[in-house]
Amino acid sequence: MVKYPIYWVAILLSICYSTSIANAEYLKYKDPKQPINARIRDLMSRMTLEEKIGQMTQIERSVASGDVMNKYFIGSVLSGGGSVPAAKASPEAWISMVNEFQQGSLSTRLGIPMIYGIDAVHGHNNVYKATIFPHNVGLGATRDPELVKRIGAATALEVRATGIPYVFAPCIAVCRDPRWGRCYESYSEDPKIVQEMTQIIPGLQGDIPHNSRKGVPFVGGQNKVAACAKHYVGDGGTTTGINENNTVIDFHGLLTTHMPGYYNAIINGVSTVMVSYSSWNGVKMHANYNLITGFLKNTLKFRGFVISDWQGLDRITSPPHANYSMSVLEGIHAGIDMVMVPYNYTEFISNLTSHVKDNHIPMSRIDDAVQRILRVKFQMGLFEHPLADNSQVHQLGSQEHREIAREAVRKSLVLLKNGKAAEKPMLPLPKKAPKILVAGSHADNLGNQCGGWTIEWQGLDGNNLTQGTTILKAIKKTVDPKTEVVYQENPDSNFVKSNKFSYAIVVVGERPYAETFGDSLNLTIAEPGYSTIKNVCGAVKCVVVVISGRPVVIEPYVSKMNALVAAWLPGSEGQGVADVLFGDYGFTGKSPRTWFKTVDQLPMNVGDPHYDPLFPFGFGLTTKPSKDY
Ligand code: GLC
Repeated sequence: MVKYPIYWVAILLSICYSTSIANAEYLKYKDPKQPINARIRDLMSRMTLEEKIGQMTQIERSVASGDVMNKYFIGSVLSGGGSVPAAKASPEAWISMVNEFQQGSLSTRLGIPMIYGIDAVHGHNNVYKATIFPHNVGLGATRDPELVKRIGAATALEVRATGIPYVFAPCIAVCRDPRWGRCYESYSEDPKIVQEMTQIIPGLQGDIPHNSRKGVPFVGGQNKVAACAKHYVGDGGTTTGINENNTVIDFHGLLTTHMPGYYNAIINGVSTVMVSYSSWNGVKMHANYNLITGFLKNTLKFRGFVISDWQGLDRITSPPHANYSMSVLEGIHAGIDMVMVPYNYTEFISNLTSHVKDNHIPMSRIDDAVQRILRVKFQMGLFEHPLADNSQVHQLGSQEHREIAREAVRKSLVLLKNGKAAEKPMLPLPKKAPKILVAGSHADNLGNQCGGWTIEWQGLDGNNLTQGTTILKAIKKTVDPKTEVVYQENPDSNFVKSNKFSYAIVVVGERPYAETFGDSLNLTIAEPGYSTIKNVCGAVKCVVVVISGRPVVIEPYVSKMNALVAAWLPGSEGQGVADVLFGDYGFTGKSPRTWFKTVDQLPMNVGDPHYDPLFPFGFGLTTKPSKDY
């Protein structure tokens, strides 16, 4: 007979209790020593449908809060273009906002961290005092993948300085018609240059380990960020460049013109791919199963997650949101894993939940999406490091990064004309001269030289948007102290003649724009640009610097100029323009685009049978640094 049986029962219960406590403390998915696949399987086995659909939901920061994150198990938050915690918010303010949302996610039953994404497409461009690098068209002109990789690394540091681990970049569009409002987001009309510039991905994310499996997402540490190759696929090929419209091309043409950048992006371990608003041969990309699931996931073996564009599901129909429930069904079925809703998340969650419960969408599709999202989050260490601290705030806008941007500006400049016939070259300009004129709407305007996607989605006019150096200020810093620099935005020819300037620098171009707002059928520059060229160049020796996101109408005025420079959208470091104008560095840039004579030639790209450009793809005169003269 066992003596005192009650004690044995108590001991047994206490052993069971302590074991269960031990088990409760040990959750395999939270163990970083476990293989990622094991962590994914363990976590997935614990998740409810609600928690899984929450992971697939990305909402805009303006509708997010700790409570919303907790209640709906939201997997991701974003800043839309210009969406900031406060005007001119400090990095500390960004960090506390991101951490507030994260605390909400960590307080859920399973504590799955959310991932915060933002458009850092030419530096951390939403953020006050961040370094603003040249837009992609200018980087394409550098022909320097190593430089672009350094830009990626610098951008990652500045993004992390604000507590954010994910960027919707790079745009690897192949713009085939400069009438497209997003052409400046494209590195080139040539897919080979776009492929080379995907080196920004290892800059952003880190170099993938040699033994990495192809297609597996990779982010190498807390000073790197998850990247996003966009917009899949053919966004730059729409008819007459109409944004979000239809790309008409056969499958071979799609693969050889618009797809190559994705091969390199996947080989470089890109973590996410964003779907294009556009259609391919009439089929909306957001509803294209064959290209998203069939080709990107099954053929190219992409194993990160596919994210929709902003209201991308809504725009499957025309008018948008016309049959949202059907759009949700089509988009998720096509293979979209995370939906940038970004506002009506309860409707999205409700629609998707119904589709699963009604067996319109199989659980296997939901599990594929969630596994991909968790794979990115586990691999990049988000479970181990979900919260940011202020230790890296000094990286934002650092002088070191500004020097990289200045180098990029120098290398992006394309010299299209240097001296009239039988004249000696005008560039480089002498630093010593009695009096010089600087003119034009873009000479002293930081907003104009940065372009769209800068502080605000559409960019801004003027000089108080952020920290940087205008081209005028750079010129003043570069010339000899005894040289008088006179600035007049739009002088008349009498003023120019009467002042007997040694020479003039005229800086004109396009006003900032983004996306559809930049679509243009006439491709003219902002007034009074052309009249400034006429007034100044008709009265004194002049070099014209064009600030634009693409080739623009310039042919009728070239004969009036002594020299012509394409500066694209240089960003905050205007000093790079002066460095080359005055010969501290030579011109090396090569045009990444065909420069047309008239818009009725468009579309016209290198390799076309009828090719009659003003300046051909790859054109760029060179100069040696002054000290070599
Ligand atoms: C925009 C753009 C996309 C951007 C997203 C989030 O509409 O198409 O490039 O990443 O929305 O701002």
